[in-house]
Amino acid sequence: MQTLWDQRYAQRAQRMSSSVIRELLKFTAEPDVISFAGGLPAPSVFPVEEFKQAAIRVLDTDGPNALQYGTTEGYKPLREWIVKYSAEFGINININNVLITSGSQQGLDLIGKVFVNPGDRILVEAPTYLGAIQAWNAYQTEYISVDSDANGLKIDALEAALRAGPKFIYVLPNFQNPTGRTTNLERRKQLVTLAQQYGVPIIEDDPYGKLRFEGEHIPSVLTLDSKYADPDCKTPYAGNVIYLSTFSKILAPGLRLAWVIAPETVIQALVKAKQGADLNTAKIIQMTTHEVCKNGFIDKHIEIIRKVYRERRDVMLRCLEDFMPEGVQWTSPQGGLFLWVTLPDHINTTQLLKEALKEKVAFVPGEYFFPCGGGQNTMRLNFSFSRPELITEGISRLGKAIKNHI
Ligand SMILES: Cc1ncc(COP(=O)(O)O)c(C=O)c1O
Repeated sequence: MQTLWDQRYAQRAQRMSSSVIRELLKFTAEPDVISFAGGLPAPSVFPVEEFKQAAIRVLDTDGPNALQYGTTEGYKPLREWIVKYSAEFGINININNVLITSGSQQGLDLIGKVFVNPGDRILVEAPTYLGAIQAWNAYQTEYISVDSDANGLKIDALEAALRAGPKFIYVLPNFQNPTGRTTNLERRKQLVTLAQQYGVPIIEDDPYGKLRFEGEHIPSVLTLDSKYADPDCKTPYAGNVIYLSTFSKILAPGLRLAWVIAPETVIQALVKAKQGADLNTAKIIQMTTHEVCKNGFIDKHIEIIRKVYRERRDVMLRCLEDFMPEGVQWTSPQGGLFLWVTLPDHINTTQLLKEALKEKVAFVPGEYFFPCGGGQNTMRLNFSFSRPELITEGISRLGKAIKNHI
């Protein structure tokens, strides 16, 4: 039945597509489906007891404050903790460079709200994070996509795309969602230099950087940019990069708690946008998370997560060797939650998914991560969520579905 609302949707609402991943999760909720589709952390690593004790302490010692409205910028001790936690940046940031958000997803949305006019073009990696496309589509964004390979964005293509005058560049340098790839140091430096040269700022989205299983930490784009503009790091950060990270993958996504690091003027603009969105991120969650983190818990906890995910990645890689037919390739990520599978050109993974669901296994078809088209023969697999025995069974089912489809 038509309602009075049907003719009244804003133009931007037509660009809001429902997430394919969320639609898929409807099917995968059935208990006998093994799902490699979601981006879910393993529930077994959620620090339930620590949160329970911390919440009791917060409510016992400062209950009314925890239940009151808070400042839009975020709970000050948590912002101070983030400044210390970010010491690895080796740059001069202070709490005025930090905004607490209700998930990084909100950070991406606020960036869209503050910076994107209809028709603005955002330069993204191909493939890129689906949630960013969803957030920015609502602002009637266009995209310029640049191919990436095992080492990150292809620099020649990047330079050509920069000439087209994008509003900003969006990158995921560590264990990228969806491919699991990491941008190497050389490419990060080239990215920063080119961005400076063409006067285009960068959004660096880094939910997975701490989840490295092996190899050396690579300096963030934010760090490299800061050193470029201010080699002695004398002034508070006022560079070319907005950096996002989150508690979702290092503690729990149910917290809906994340942070943005940016020049102070950008933080102030984002604060105004956030005021209109939710006034402030739940204070009781910020205070409880700070209580959990303040005495060094998180580093020990991340060690546990890394161990669990490393084992699951290894199981998935071994099973892919065992069960995939010839002509199928995949990435071998050094961290994070995902790996990326490329099938022979003629296979369409959206079609294949129907076959796979009959075999009771799910993945995300890769094409949805390409805002400018392509990737029909690719898929994203999540290795963090399923227990090792289910990974083995699930990849065996997937191998069967692919063989049937070929
Ligand atoms: C690259 C990337 N950015 C942002 C997010 C959203 O994170 P949050 O749970 O903090 O909203 C995710 C979640 O999977 C992600 O993979």
